[in-house]
Amino acid sequence: MFNESLKNVRLSPIVAISEEVNKISTQTGKDFILFQRGEMGFSTPAYIVDAMFKALNEGHTKYPVSGGHIKLKNAIIQKLNDFNNVRNVVPEQIVVTHGGQEGLELVLKLFEGKKVVSFSPVWSVILENYVPFMNLNLCEIPFEDDFSVNYDLLEKELKDASLLYFNTPHNPTGKVFSEEEIKKIVALCEKYGVFILSDEAYERITFDDKKHFSPMQLDYEKILSVFTFSKTYAMTGWRLGYIVTKDKEIAKMLRLAEYTQTAGIPTFTQFAGAEAILNKSEEEKVIKEFMLEFDLRRKKLYEGLSSIEGVKMPVKPEGAFYIFPDFSEFVPSNLSKEDSRLYIHKKLIDAGVATVYGSCFGKYFQNFLRFSYSTTNIEQITEGVERIKKALSN
Ligand SMILES: Cc1ncc(COP(=O)(O)O)c(C=O)c1O
Repeated sequence: MFNESLKNVRLSPIVAISEEVNKISTQTGKDFILFQRGEMGFSTPAYIVDAMFKALNEGHTKYPVSGGHIKLKNAIIQKLNDFNNVRNVVPEQIVVTHGGQEGLELVLKLFEGKKVVSFSPVWSVILENYVPFMNLNLCEIPFEDDFSVNYDLLEKELKDASLLYFNTPHNPTGKVFSEEEIKKIVALCEKYGVFILSDEAYERITFDDKKHFSPMQLDYEKILSVFTFSKTYAMTGWRLGYIVTKDKEIAKMLRLAEYTQTAGIPTFTQFAGAEAILNKSEEEKVIKEFMLEFDLRRKKLYEGLSSIEGVKMPVKPEGAFYIFPDFSEFVPSNLSKEDSRLYIHKKLIDAGVATVYGSCFGKYFQNFLRFSYSTTNIEQITEGVERIKKALSN
């Protein structure tokens, strides 16, 4: 009777893990070190909150402009120019959305039922929500052991694909694709006329002087980039993001879809978003503060996990706030596929450490775990590593 594809949409396993952990805590009083969610531990900076109240007091409480307010679009154009080196974008190429997630949904909707290629591991929300909801035929291209790209495999799968879902800085590996890699990937898409959905949610979270390179900088026409305020400005709950396309006709379609689904984004939220970008001195201050803390945590967690014998560490991640090590060494070989899938995750839950198991990110990285350090402070990281050490030595 109902849309069949909805039956296959699942609650994000990351949310399910959080619910499980909450339940255990409430029932037994057990405390957990929480490495599972990509939430921001910081509060939204005061200058952004103030801008929202100002907009409300000024009466920006009516139905919003379809596709986004010009004030925010102009701020976005400036940001694209200053931060992304993306020039000549006009307001008609931008659609303001309810967070990055609505941006992704609107773009993927254009490719309903089509073959979509993605590097693997792939962010769980794509797999659990969008693939079934949009009936996408998703083809995973596994990274090599060092998380580099297998171009032969990529080319083979792009030949009959409609879209490449591309994410840099990458969730869950923390990989930041280099300009050279991105140029090669875009060239292959161009060769076969494949569209690119470029998910740049973590564009401002890069370390060791590595800078985010947006595919939008390249000449190829068939690129749609999705950005969000969530991670850059600790605005996860505001649900503010945007799509930038090179093709104005596509932007019109997206705008219409956006408008009919949600009737647009509250204007006062958009004004706060504009202030987030345009108040350069405050912006610089808060991003610096977030990044200093993230870098300390990244180093501490990487060192800590590296000190556990048997954990196979990836190269040190250069972006986002995740580390994705391999725990294969600890998984007994006689277990069934289903039991081995959750083996390490369960062991760590018993020890009071919540992570996300590798199979949430596709079919190739079963024995890996994703650690997020976005909400754990240094003491919690130290304690978490100690608990893991103990659990794995038993
Ligand atoms: C890879 C990736 N893309 C997009 C998003 C979307 O974030 P939001 O909907 O909060 O803007 C997230 C959030 O965790 C993410 O990890």
